[in-house]
Amino acid sequence: LENKVGRTPALGWNSWNQAQCNAATASVVMQTAKAFVDLGLKDLGYVYVNIDDCWSTKTRNATGHLVADPAKFPKGMDGLARDIHAMGLKLGLYGDAGLLTCAGYPGSYSYEQKDADTLAQWGVDYWKFDNCLTEKPYINGGIKSSQYYPIMRDALLKTGKPILFSICQWGRDEVWTWGAKVGNSWRMSEDVQNSWASVASIAAKAATIYQYSAPGGFNDLDMMELGNGKLTEAEERAHFGLWAIMKSPIIMGTDMTKLKASTLNIIKNKVCRLAKSNLALRRSDADKTKAILAINQDPLGKAATTFTPKGKAGPASGKLYKYYAGPLLGGGVVVGLVAADGAETLAVNFTDVPGLGEGSFSWTELYSGRNGTGTLVSQALGSNDM
Ligand code: GLA
Repeated sequence: LENKVGRTPALGWNSWNQAQCNAATASVVMQTAKAFVDLGLKDLGYVYVNIDDCWSTKTRNATGHLVADPAKFPKGMDGLARDIHAMGLKLGLYGDAGLLTCAGYPGSYSYEQKDADTLAQWGVDYWKFDNCLTEKPYINGGIKSSQYYPIMRDALLKTGKPILFSICQWGRDEVWTWGAKVGNSWRMSEDVQNSWASVASIAAKAATIYQYSAPGGFNDLDMMELGNGKLTEAEERAHFGLWAIMKSPIIMGTDMTKLKASTLNIIKNKVCRLAKSNLALRRSDADKTKAILAINQDPLGKAATTFTPKGKAGPASGKLYKYYAGPLLGGGVVVGLVAADGAETLAVNFTDVPGLGEGSFSWTELYSGRNGTGTLVSQALGSNDM
């Protein structure tokens, strides 16, 4: 969408995966914002602090406006937006295209312009727009999401404020084919769950629709599950790396005040020695200062997808695949390798990598910082890196 924002995937946090409705409070939001600043995440580009469902009162006020729940947001949403902006961050909010949000709070159906104006007046920078209670037998029944999502887009554009529009309709109606005209990102799957199986199945699907992502409009693989206690460190690296190279928004969904050092290192891309890795990312130029986040934020904005090295089997439908590559601005290529488990070693010839071909290349492993020159990628990080 041409609205001056979202030229690269959004980086930030959202309350939902942390504690659903319980994290939608001003105090959690302010703690998160402080953590973004104190941990150096803001300086890396993590600027969106987003409130998900359950922030408003259960009904609109007498004039039909949305109201922030005063018990959860004592300074109102405008007061919170001022505090967040004063820290150099941006505030995101959540709404719904139907009668009610998924948790039963007022939706924006038939109130689109009023709500867009309210967001603009409060200083909201990001609007996630959900899809509950839109389909038959509810009131938007009969209208396709490709028809009702543009109503909110137009209302936001009419405010003249650069509000990032995040479409959340779970990959219905082939949203990737029209999402770029309507929003800055679009969810392409059902909700992520706190498990490796869920992360893997979303990544497998995203690889089949990579071509639709471009500056201003990206496949949204859903919010991160890093830090939520179910993924191993290797799985956290793979989750982050896959989202990054597939140009998904990277929206953390955990308590940012309680991050483990290993999780913080992953999301900061600090070059670190790893006990085990199941993901190595390589580029053809050895610029160490540009790591995984920079690949996610590459202005070229093209998503990586799978490729099949000579002699290997191609991707199986619905299953996570091992080999990924995608182009970078300036002619570099990112290669992603996802091993079946932490100990597996994967090897790839540069000649098999789309966009490279014959030649000698310099490379950097982005999680380890190792680099070298040559015609062959030898292997992913193995357990002898310990
Ligand atoms: C839907 C969305 C989630 C979250 C919840 C909130 O399930 O897909 O991301 O916003 O609603 O109720």
